[in-house]
Amino acid sequence: MLAALSATRPAALAERIERAPVLDRPVHALSDTVVRALPPGPRTDALHGVPFGQPAHPALVRMPLGCWTSAVLLDLFRGTERASGTLVAVGLAASLPSAATGLADWSALHRHQQRVGLVHAISQGSATALFGASLLARLAGRHGNGKMLSAGGLAAATVGAYLGGHLALRLGAGASHAEPIGHLAALGWHDLCPLSDLTDGQLARRQLGYLSLLALRQGDAVHVLSDHCAHLGGPLHQGRVAAIDGAACVTCPWHGSTFRLSDGAVIHGPATARQPAFDSRITSSGWVQIRPAGHVPRRSVRRAGQEIKRRVAG
Ligand code: FES
Repeated sequence: MLAALSATRPAALAERIERAPVLDRPVHALSDTVVRALPPGPRTDALHGVPFGQPAHPALVRMPLGCWTSAVLLDLFRGTERASGTLVAVGLAASLPSAATGLADWSALHRHQQRVGLVHAISQGSATALFGASLLARLAGRHGNGKMLSAGGLAAATVGAYLGGHLALRLGAGASHAEPIGHLAALGWHDLCPLSDLTDGQLARRQLGYLSLLALRQGDAVHVLSDHCAHLGGPLHQGRVAAIDGAACVTCPWHGSTFRLSDGAVIHGPATARQPAFDSRITSSGWVQIRPAGHVPRRSVRRAGQEIKRRVAG
């Protein structure tokens, strides 16, 4: 009995979608179409949300969902036909940028994420079609039909929203996969490797304890970033180095995110989060030492602590 119940839980159903190879053919066809329609460049970067520093899709989906939920609630009261019709129309207009950003993000996901994303997109597409039919019915004066179609649209949008949450929160689509590294490295400088171990201009992977790092030597300077790509954790040390606007950058081998090596800034998506970077220095004995970039010196931390104590005491 308990096993039967757990198999019908929404999360269990979403997990079954992850493992459904029957979806692979449509995933492949749609993914190819989206990739062809959205070649790398500023337009695709904007759809991913690179200029905003986080994926644009989660913020944009609030507009259609908010409008449509409000329309269905207003439908419960008399004399609100005009207001709910307006909300349905605004939601339909807002669903276009939401769909465009979602498709751009979806085209650069792993296969099991794409399976869930496809069903999410079908649910949202069904919701859009139902709200579109609802608007037409309302404009024709058939308000009863319009309300029923809107209720069906909201049900489909709710299923889609659940799968979107599964994709983002369980499968990590859209989250930075490199963020924890800056917090895991202890304060202060750490020995990384002898400078002579690094070949000039060649990417190398180095370990700091259990942290995987990417190092690039340029003369006597060494750039160090987290090796796990912020997008989905791809191995940056297997990527390509190229100069963009005069700055050395690394391109991830998995989906082409490009980061500036000096500070981890995103130059091209699909990644939107900065790649964690490390300050580096060379000791007199020829060792490369690193510390997390933006590190606050111990003295400043101590001084801040003393200041807080002084204020509390005063
Ligand atoms: S893992 Fe997708 S671009 Fe790096």
